[in-house]
Amino acid sequence: MPTESLTITDNRTGKKYEVPIADGTIRAPDLRQIKTSDDDFGLMSYDPAFMNTVSCRSAIAFIDGDRGILEYRGYPIEQLAEKSTFLEVAYLLVHGELPTKTQLADWSTQIANHYMLHENIKKFIDGFHHEAHPMGMLLSTVGALSTFYPESKNIFDAATRRKQIHRLLGKMPTLAAYAHRHCLGLPYEYPDPRLSYVGNFMAMLWKRTGAEDRYTPHPALERALDILLILHADHEQNCSTSAMRVVGSSHPDPFCATAAAIGALFGPLHGGANEEVLKMLREIGSKDKVPDYIKRVKTGEMKLMGFGHRVYKNYDPRASIIKKAAYDVFAVTGTNPMLELAIELERIALSDDYFVSRKLYPNVDFYSGLIYEALGFPAEMFTVLFAVARTAGWLAQWQEMLLDKEQKIARPRQVFTGHRQRTYVPMAQR
Ligand code: CMC
Repeated sequence: MPTESLTITDNRTGKKYEVPIADGTIRAPDLRQIKTSDDDFGLMSYDPAFMNTVSCRSAIAFIDGDRGILEYRGYPIEQLAEKSTFLEVAYLLVHGELPTKTQLADWSTQIANHYMLHENIKKFIDGFHHEAHPMGMLLSTVGALSTFYPESKNIFDAATRRKQIHRLLGKMPTLAAYAHRHCLGLPYEYPDPRLSYVGNFMAMLWKRTGAEDRYTPHPALERALDILLILHADHEQNCSTSAMRVVGSSHPDPFCATAAAIGALFGPLHGGANEEVLKMLREIGSKDKVPDYIKRVKTGEMKLMGFGHRVYKNYDPRASIIKKAAYDVFAVTGTNPMLELAIELERIALSDDYFVSRKLYPNVDFYSGLIYEALGFPAEMFTVLFAVARTAGWLAQWQEMLLDKEQKIARPRQVFTGHRQRTYVPMAQR
């Protein structure tokens, strides 16, 4: 028997079982030996929403939700946000180590080589209604990439996998920028590989066609956007990453799996919350209306968007960094008038027993929208920016899943609650 084990007594049969404990977990399949008879399927664990289920072993992101700690590959998020760049962080997530100067230069070139989209992708984007949500456009066009690169299905070939990682990281900002310009009815702007990853993204978003020969990103705004991408790059087994892993586990190409992850991220309980925060602040309108809004939240009428987290039961470390970055942006763009309102909402919520007792703190989405808005993004683009950043984490997690010998196609079980063995009733008799 291993030194750490769990003794289970099945009170239905009086039998005792020893189940090994490793890394603070028991293996759910070990429960299957617990049976009431030979033809019993065996005991299973029931865990809707995976509240207490570990689905993988991962060395990518570490979160201590009680202490408010987030590390990528062992490096604290605060240090990465202060000292590194998004491309460096993406390399770290995918490869496990910080790149050397040469490795970073090579990685950046490989990614920049994939900035361009096939011209036909523009036709897909052109086909969308001008009021189409850019997340819908992003999801569809990432899925469409699958049809352009059929070799990408060769997911167990390391070189092919590497190429798709470069490709996706390269094309996401272009797809995002094209979706943005489509909403505004503006012509698409080709990428400029002479600029940094973020600088090029800003150019594709905001270059005034015909009016500017070359777009020069404002260094403070470029840095702020880079920091936001770093903060959103990975967050272990959240809803969209789980979608990436689950869909990836049936072995489609990574474009299909990423499209699924984008769909998961779009929801208002996940990445879509940043857009909802802005709507909420607009609805509240002024500081004097905050107490009344909090009252409505406490009666269960609605949630306070940008608050609460499945894992963080303390201040989300990303929210503190974003709050600081907001002031750097506002120094250039002027203050977002919603900031005061957000601070007041946070102040009141954090002194109210409803939020304190439930350990509900601002999460990454509470302040990010205010910065994005100050940078000039419409609210519909907020979650798109989240997706551009999270692509790095999704791809790192997807690759880790594929290389993990223990992983198989994801296939949970169910407790069946429906009818059985009914006899078909012809239409005339119903
Ligand atoms: N406002 C008001 N009450 C809340 C909130 C909120 N934002 N979040 C949780 N609660 C309450 C919830 O009603 C429950 O109360 P009770 O115990 O009385 O039933 C209690 O707090 C525990 O919440 P839960 O629903 O069990 O928590 P969960 O882990 O299932 O949900 C969450 C986590 C993030 C979905 C949820 O907190 C939420 O909906 N927040 C608002 C949406 C949001 O900001 N999402 C972004 C998450 S961070 C970025 C990302 O990962 O995408």
